[in-house]
Amino acid sequence: MRVLGIESSCDETGIALYDTASGLLEQRLYSQIEQHREYGGVVPELASREHVARAAPMIEELLAASGGLESVDALAYTRGPGLMGALMVGACIARGIAWACNKPVLGVHHMEGHLLAPMLSDDKPGFPFVALLVSGGHTLLVDVEAVGRYKVLGESLDDAVGEAFDKTAKLLGLPYPGGPQLAALAARVESSRYRFPRPMVDRPGLDFSFSGLKTFALNTIQTCQPLSDDDKAQIAFAFERAVVETLEIKCRRALRQTGCKTLVVAGGVGANLRLRAQLQRMTEADGARVYFPEMRYCTDNGAMIAYAGAQRLAAGQSDQGIHDVLPRWSLEDLPPL
Ligand code: KG4
Ligand code: ZN
Repeated sequence: MRVLGIESSCDETGIALYDTASGLLEQRLYSQIEQHREYGGVVPELASREHVARAAPMIEELLAASGGLESVDALAYTRGPGLMGALMVGACIARGIAWACNKPVLGVHHMEGHLLAPMLSDDKPGFPFVALLVSGGHTLLVDVEAVGRYKVLGESLDDAVGEAFDKTAKLLGLPYPGGPQLAALAARVESSRYRFPRPMVDRPGLDFSFSGLKTFALNTIQTCQPLSDDDKAQIAFAFERAVVETLEIKCRRALRQTGCKTLVVAGGVGANLRLRAQLQRMTEADGARVYFPEMRYCTDNGAMIAYAGAQRLAAGQSDQGIHDVLPRWSLEDLPPL
């Protein structure tokens, strides 16, 4: 089965064609980062308009390079969670094509897309596993029994990890989205004279809280004025280290609690090299294994939506009488395959 996937939940327009027999065939990605940068964050209305302008030409180009619409068996789009207007663009395009060509269509959960992104690699994790989903909008630890069988073990009570990276980066004067740039700044030093707290690690449970870290960063910045480049790098290092160690402690706890030996890390912050290295070390020490998606499938993309949609469409699921999008949507509300 060949599925055309459309991702439009935030500021990336992602289009991909996935074949259940031969894998990923084609993909296109358009990032709107430049348009949003001058505002210091994503402007929802601007994002919707950019998706409107970009998605259709990208789909046409992708189909022209891969056998046309006739070769597509079904369509998948991101139904949520995400920005209402941005989601509606992808949903309308996917449903419009499906209706015009009489093909099945399915709305995919964006975080299920992230969670299954490591399946696009040759070396795939087997079920069950614990997933750490770390993106700009979500921080979740999920017990994954199989596709669609999810139990949320813990989540952020305030800022998502990516959001904390972006806000702290902004305080350090870095342009949006600051996560990767903060990581690059932190990599310039090998230690730090600052020590940031590890939020909520002394309490039992698997929830997170990251909003205090940006306040801690703000206070640290205010106490060391004027801020030198070395101060900035050391603050970035201390912040990143605190985040990574907090995530490591909670991942280890989740693996022990569930008895799972497999950890999957996905979402934009999954591209962070220090996080990757630290979780690699932790799982090796505990006789477990960690899987990450390829770097390009950590941040938002169409391939993960085409893949997740293909699993459900191949199992006979499709949208029946669904006309909405879901800006808020729990992973636990998804049906199993
Ligand atoms: O998954 P994603 O592309 O979009 C959402 O679904 O939110 O994640 C984007 C987030 C941003 O906050 C970005 O700063 C962060 O992922 N990010 C990183 C890195 N690369 C992306 N954060 C830390 N280190 C990185 N290398
Ligand atoms: Zn995402």
